[in-house]
Amino acid sequence: MIRRAFSMSTTNQAVKHVTVIGGGLMGAGIAQVAAQTGHNVTVVDVSEDVLKKSKDSIKKSLERVAKKQNPEDEKARANFMTETMSRLSMNTNVEDVAKSTDLVIEAIVENLDIKKKLFSSIDSIAPEHTIFASNTSSIPIKEIASATKRLDRFGGLHFFNPVPVMKLVEVIRTPETSDTTFSTLAEFGKAMGKTTVEAKDTPGFIVNRLLVPYMMEAVRMLERGDASAKDIDTAMKLGAGYPMGPIQLSDYVGLDTCQFIVKGWHEKHPDNPLFNPCPLLDKLVSEGKLGMKSGEGFYKYN
Ligand code: CAA
Ligand code: NAD
Repeated sequence: MIRRAFSMSTTNQAVKHVTVIGGGLMGAGIAQVAAQTGHNVTVVDVSEDVLKKSKDSIKKSLERVAKKQNPEDEKARANFMTETMSRLSMNTNVEDVAKSTDLVIEAIVENLDIKKKLFSSIDSIAPEHTIFASNTSSIPIKEIASATKRLDRFGGLHFFNPVPVMKLVEVIRTPETSDTTFSTLAEFGKAMGKTTVEAKDTPGFIVNRLLVPYMMEAVRMLERGDASAKDIDTAMKLGAGYPMGPIQLSDYVGLDTCQFIVKGWHEKHPDNPLFNPCPLLDKLVSEGKLGMKSGEGFYKYN
């Protein structure tokens, strides 16, 4: 059966101000595209230093987008940069920002307790109408929402890395998510220029339920010594048409994030061999080799 997909549009009346909590790999991308598409956005993270890095990475990525949109027109590129950056602000105080926002998108570390603590801290502060959404890769939305009293105004908005390039957003509803919340989230995804699909609150939703076991099977193949990392990646790029091979993709996603995902699923579903832990992945994470973002994972990066 083909799932419902929503086509692109440009306006979103219900969401004018967006709070993105977590300015890392995903949060920076979500904030950038939301600002690019006309929303006022505040990024919240734990320190000024992290927020500065986040802003720098947004600027760099925006420059790539500007160059692509207006290769010949320097003035148009400069206007695009200025206008987009003027819609973006940074803040370390989540309570202050949550007081006045239409939508909160959480993109912090993949840990249930930390996500629950965050949402619980802003539930009584955020306005009644404000919708909360998580960008979690693997944690049930229902479990995160349980930290709040707004179960009807809580859903999942799952973006893909790199957000400025990947065209999909999965919109996840729990049994308690109201129809209005669901349609507002789907409209917001469309207003960001993305195609949206509706997903149930099952492990990994649609994409990660298929993609993560595939990536982990590639790590197991490497562990068994059946093929080198480079050959696995070359094989899947040239033999199956993937833009990146699975080992490189694991580095790109972040090995800590991959580990959180697999660990969480294995604890909940110990009998499912697709979710078995990968000792090689665990070893790299314990050595601080988190993939591209830390400079080394399965591969080394400059
Ligand atoms: N910001 C803005 N633009 C970017 C960008 C960024 N961060 N990264 C890439 N681009 C643009 C480039 O400017 C370039 O544009 P042009 O074609 O117009 O020049 C285009 O994207 C291609 O980039 P590159 O030439 O640098 O590199 P590439 O062709 O190798 O593509 C890639 C890079 C888009 C990342 C591609 O390799 C790819 O699609 N990889 C797979 C990504 C993927 O599977 N993501 C999903 C991960 S799973 C996930 O996200 C879910 C989860 O919960 C874990
Ligand atoms: P990341 O490590 O790059 O960034 C996380 C950011 O959250 C960091 O900047 C950190 O300082 C900040 N943070 C942590 N706790 C915080 C708190 N209490 N308040 C404010 N900020 C806090 O991680 P990421 O890869 O961007 O992943 C973020 C979320 O998105 C995770 O839930 C992950 O599963 C999900 N996700 C990741 C990918 C991916 O490819 N990496 C894709 C889709 C979804």
